[in-house]
Amino acid sequence: MYGLINEAMRRLVTEVAGADAWSRIARRADTVETFAALHYYQDADTYALVAAASAELDVAQDELLRQFGTYWSNRVGPENYADILGATGTSVYSVLHNLDLMHARIQSLYPDLRPPSFAVLEIGPGKLEVHYTSVRVGLAPFVVGLLEGLGQLYGTPATVTHVAPPSAAAPYDVFHVALGG
Ligand code: HEM
Repeated sequence: MYGLINEAMRRLVTEVAGADAWSRIARRADTVETFAALHYYQDADTYALVAAASAELDVAQDELLRQFGTYWSNRVGPENYADILGATGTSVYSVLHNLDLMHARIQSLYPDLRPPSFAVLEIGPGKLEVHYTSVRVGLAPFVVGLLEGLGQLYGTPATVTHVAPPSAAAPYDVFHVALGG
């Protein structure tokens, strides 16, 4: 994935555990310590960093991915990509509705991008069903955190449930989101 993802993880870990912890994590993962936002790194580097951070910080990988998702939505997005996020939407629903278009637009800046795909349905008042498709595996907990973070960002706290896909063969993950606030 593009370096901005690993770089955001470095920022989160450095904030909560300090720069030395990040150095140890990068060493354990056998990666460089800092990442250029526009450089494409192997997905294996990102997975290795998550595994190393999990071991170093004694936090389960899924929990770490979830926290990283929250951090991305309510800190990295609004602080580093405010223009992009602002042009995408102003609520959990509108951001999700326009997310594929947003990831497609930034493809001019990130030509090797392999973005996820999101579909969102309103299934009741304040209740959304989200379908997530990716070429990658294991990132559903990251999506849970991203959705929770968007809820915080827009003042509609989100309770997110990762539900079983409609069939074992379904090529996407399903999430239910209940918005409060
Ligand atoms: C705020 C601005 C955002 C920017 C600039 C951005 C950009 C990116 C980039 C560059 C990647 C790496 C993909 C690759 O290198 O192939 C990525 C991955 C991803 N993005 Fe975004 N993104 C943003 C917001 C969001 C939001 C709000 C969500 C969901 C609610 C989201 C969901 C994801 C997911 C799940 C991935 C992981 C890749 C995968 O699932 O295969 N992004 N994004």
